[in-house]
Amino acid sequence: MSDRVRALWTGQNRHPGDRARLFRAVGDAVEAAHVLCPGSFVDVSPSFVLPSVTYVDLDDRAARFFAQRESVAAIVAEHRDSPGDPEIHFLHGDYAGHLDLPRGGFDLLVSLYAGLVSEHCTEYLKPGGTLLANPSHGDVAMASLDDRYVLSGVVVHRGGASRVRTTGLEQYLVPKASTPLTRDDVRERGRGVAYTRSAFAYLFTHR
Ligand SMILES: C[S@@+](CC[C@H](N)C(=O)[O-])C[C@H]1O[C@@H](n2cnc3c(N)ncnc32)[C@H](O)[C@@H]1O
Repeated sequence: MSDRVRALWTGQNRHPGDRARLFRAVGDAVEAAHVLCPGSFVDVSPSFVLPSVTYVDLDDRAARFFAQRESVAAIVAEHRDSPGDPEIHFLHGDYAGHLDLPRGGFDLLVSLYAGLVSEHCTEYLKPGGTLLANPSHGDVAMASLDDRYVLSGVVVHRGGASRVRTTGLEQYLVPKASTPLTRDDVRERGRGVAYTRSAFAYLFTHR
């Protein structure tokens, strides 16, 4: 395996096993045959669990990483617990621009620490598909204000495990601040909103 790929992966994989547990829990809860990960950098962990993942990033280091197909496949093989070679695709580009991908072609859209993915990439998610987002860059707040989405689950970490909850969802996405935010506010802030009850990540169904 190339040293460059190994070094990039080691830098990415700061909490070994965490992301695999996340994607296993999500893959058990929702359909995730075709997955889109905009702003992935070199986080190839979805492929430890899921059968077909398209990664998108504008960073040249991510492009160089994914170009080393055999090395990436070796990392995935080291961590994958089911047989078969998953499909791994990479697009080097700006997810806010046009991506050469099928509209409605994906079951799961992943938005982790990568900006407002839901604003730009929902067209690639099929109706009934799922957005997995975490709150740090404001994409959970954005999706919660987007009529195309409805909250359908939360991902909580407990005792080293990730679990998807689909009940009691009315307790989530309740802002602590009394002044309601608009989508423009979220864009300007570029960060999340404080909620009275928080989860690691949120699942939204695309209506
Ligand atoms: C903080 S990293 C997060 C990487 C990964 N999602 C994770 O959870 O560790 C954010 C990544 O998003 C990428 N990114 C941000 N805006 C982007 C855009 N408009 N198009 C493509 N990639 C973008 C950056 O290049 C960077 O690699």
